[in-house]
Amino acid sequence: MNNFNFWNSTKIIFGAGEIASLSNEIPAGARVLITYGGGSIKKNGIFEQVTAALGHVTWFEFGGIEANPHFETCIKAVDLVKTEQIDFMLAVGGGSVIDATKFIAAASKYAGDPWDIIATFGGAVTDALPVGCVLTLAATGSEMNPTSVVTRAETQDKLFFNSEHVRPKFSILDPKTTYSLPPRQVGNGVVDSFVHVLEQYVTFPANARVQDRFAEGLLATIIEEGPKALHDPENYDVRANLMWSATMALNGLLATGTPGDWASHLIGQELTGLYGLDHGQTLAIMIPAIWTYKLEQKREKLVQYGQRVWHIQETDPNLIAQQAIELTREFFESMGVKTRLTDYGLDEKAIAEVVAKLKEHQFVALGEHGDITPEDAAEILKLAL
Ligand code: NZQ
Ligand code: ZN
Repeated sequence: MNNFNFWNSTKIIFGAGEIASLSNEIPAGARVLITYGGGSIKKNGIFEQVTAALGHVTWFEFGGIEANPHFETCIKAVDLVKTEQIDFMLAVGGGSVIDATKFIAAASKYAGDPWDIIATFGGAVTDALPVGCVLTLAATGSEMNPTSVVTRAETQDKLFFNSEHVRPKFSILDPKTTYSLPPRQVGNGVVDSFVHVLEQYVTFPANARVQDRFAEGLLATIIEEGPKALHDPENYDVRANLMWSATMALNGLLATGTPGDWASHLIGQELTGLYGLDHGQTLAIMIPAIWTYKLEQKREKLVQYGQRVWHIQETDPNLIAQQAIELTREFFESMGVKTRLTDYGLDEKAIAEVVAKLKEHQFVALGEHGDITPEDAAEILKLAL
């Protein structure tokens, strides 16, 4: 196990009806900006619950944050923050709204060109407005981590930044908020949370037994509960287990002392930036292709995953690894998330464009060994056609 520091200061308030406790978490006299997406929270009653819970707190609203949030939209919110002297940000939505809110929180306190925040992967951030969250989609883990992913629409650059300054102060997780999710987003959320675990687990053995068992527990839970959410959307226990799994998958715990891959995320980001695919869709395409390409290096962990998570009975390690890849692909497909570039109307022309973006962003040494070059990425993308 590698050395590590672990610190996670986000307070989690979990359970049905907990939005009502919101006002306890907002400082007295705060001027709050409620941020949200394309309007789902105004149709499913979540906006009313939030505003009722805020009571006499002074609040403003900023809606229209798109999925894969745009830098350009965030900048408009920064103007509103300054005009209305906002001092607390309240994100109500999924990963896109939370990520946008983190960026707005940092950009509102940043004197220079706000794109510096992204260009320095967050290094330029020295201060931010406090952020609180009401989560409505179980997927990204953004509600309990310091990461944000923002897209500059003008240049089709989708990039992330990290800063402790934007880690949410609190997040309210009411599983009932996820009852209204469309099946496509249920599928995306299951794939995303599942892949977050895989990125930190299917690498190479690090003798991190606690982390491995945590990972296997989360994977088994998501495999069991994910399909149920599609067939029984208002099953509270199913939603609760999926929501907590998604948060635990990317809150730093699994990353302690272990190698991380993240190639599927970084190549996938380019697919979203260029062609607008959903984040979960890009991961479902990339994971089977990366594993097939890297089977030899990943074999030991693929075997562990195949035996412990999928209970594969074969004895030949290569067969176990191949079956584990196929079962993972089938699981994604069973959640309604297709696993090939061609399923989304993309062909080999996309490969050169993705590779050019990887080079432009200097993502030229990906994976847990830092050995996936843009040329390797091209080979992997061929396998994903
Ligand atoms: O915009 P509204 O109208 O709210 O609709 C949203 C959106 O269309 C809808 N939705 C959300 N909650 C709903 C709902 N519809 C009905 N009922 C509800 N309760 O779902 C659609 C997708 O929402 P979005 O927030 O985009 O989804 P998700 O949570 O999957 O977030 C994806 C974004 O997060 C980034 C991704 O790259 C992508 O930009 N990620 C952030 C990470 C992080 N901060 O740590 C890590 C991830 O790997 C990921 O990269
Ligand atoms: Zn993800």
